[in-house]
Amino acid sequence: MIIKNSEFIKSAASKRDYPETGLLEIAFAGRSNVGKSSLINKLVNRKSLARVSATPGKTATINFFDVDKFCLVDLPGYGYAKVSQKEKDRWGKLMEDYFAAGRIDLGVLIVDYRHPPTNNDITMARWFIDSGCPFVVVANKLDKLKKSEIAPNLQTIREDLELPEDCAVIPFSAEKGNGRDELVKMVLSAVKE
Ligand code: GTP
Ligand code: MG
Repeated sequence: MIIKNSEFIKSAASKRDYPETGLLEIAFAGRSNVGKSSLINKLVNRKSLARVSATPGKTATINFFDVDKFCLVDLPGYGYAKVSQKEKDRWGKLMEDYFAAGRIDLGVLIVDYRHPPTNNDITMARWFIDSGCPFVVVANKLDKLKKSEIAPNLQTIREDLELPEDCAVIPFSAEKGNGRDELVKMVLSAVKE
C-alpha cells in the first residue's frame, strides 16, 4: 500500500475529545513499550508521526491519525507497573470508554514476540473475541529473537491467547520492517469484509 498522506488529528484525554472522522478506525493495543507507536510509524513510513520512547508509558492519551481512508489510533499501553494508582485508574477509564464506544473497525493487538503473553494481553484478546470486534495479532520485536525461537514462540502466543484458527498472527519488526506488507494486506482485506 502506498500511503500518500498521514497526519496527526488529535489527542484525546477523555471521550469528549474523540474526533468525528467518518474514516474506518483501526486501533493499536498492547502492553506498554511493546512498540505500538513504532509500528504505526513503520506502517506509514514516517519516522516520528507517533511518539516513541525507550521508557514505558510514553503514550498517555489516545492519539488519532488520519492515513488516507483510515483513522489509526495509537492507544496508551497497559501493564506498566511503575505508575501511581491514580494514573492506573485514569488509564482504565480512558481505555474502557474507548473500547465501549463501538468505534473500532479493526483491532491490532500487539504482543512481544520474545515472551509469552501477559495476563493483560490475554484479557485484551478475550475482549476482542467476546465482543466480535475483528482483530489481528502482531508479534513484534522479531529482530530480537533467535531463529530457534521463531516457531515455538508463535505457537505459545496463539495458544495462550486462545486465538480462533482464522485469527492471523503476524511476525513483525517495527525496527527492521518485517511483516509490514503482510499487516497492510491484512488491514485492507479485513476492512473490506
Ligand atoms: P507506550 O506508548 O509506552 O505504550 O509504548 P509503545 O508500545 O508505543 O512502544 P514504543 O513504540 O514507544 O517503543 C518502545 C521501545 O521499543 C522503543 O525504544 C522502540 O525503539 C522499541 N521497539 C519498538 N519496536 C521494536 C522492534 O520491532 N524491535 C526492536 N528491537 N525494538 C523495538
Ligand atoms: Mg506509544
